[in-house]
Amino acid sequence: MIFAILKAVHLLALAFGAAASLGNIYLLLARGPHDLPAPALTNALRKWYRLTALGAILALWITGVLLTVMRYGWGSGFAFEAKLAMATVLLALIGFLNWMSPGWARRGGPPSYVPKLHMVGAAALLLAIVFAVFAFN
Ligand code: HEM
Repeated sequence: MIFAILKAVHLLALAFGAAASLGNIYLLLARGPHDLPAPALTNALRKWYRLTALGAILALWITGVLLTVMRYGWGSGFAFEAKLAMATVLLALIGFLNWMSPGWARRGGPPSYVPKLHMVGAAALLLAIVFAVFAFN
């Protein structure tokens, strides 16, 4: 029962994390970072996306470690290690973006490399899902 509850939280965190990650990608596809017609709206959306991403990746790591210890002791194999590598990239990226964003907002907006970080983040998330399925099935 506990395992099922933790896995449900794990997959719900994945749903929210995917919404935040792909939301940023769709904003990029819609227009460039500083030329959307409603900067207040897009800045508010980006803030919701980054805080959601932070909550989601922390929940994925906490439930992930508990799930692994409960059923496997610890995981092994290429797919599990590759998944953890992607989850580590995401934790570092989301932590960095949340740490730097308030300062960037005060200094006129994020640097031009930030959209590329969002693309790396989205790729890491999608790869983590694929590796998760191969790791546990
Ligand atoms: C970006 C981060 C992560 C994503 C996208 C992700 C995705 C997933 C997905 C899609 C599943 C369901 C797999 C299936 O049942 O076929 C899953 C299950 C699981 N994940 Fe994660 N996960 C992430 C982080 C982690 C971390 C950091 C750990 C461990 C430290 C972890 C450990 C597990 C475990 C143990 C299961 C349950 C496997 C089972 O049912 O036996 N996950 N994860």
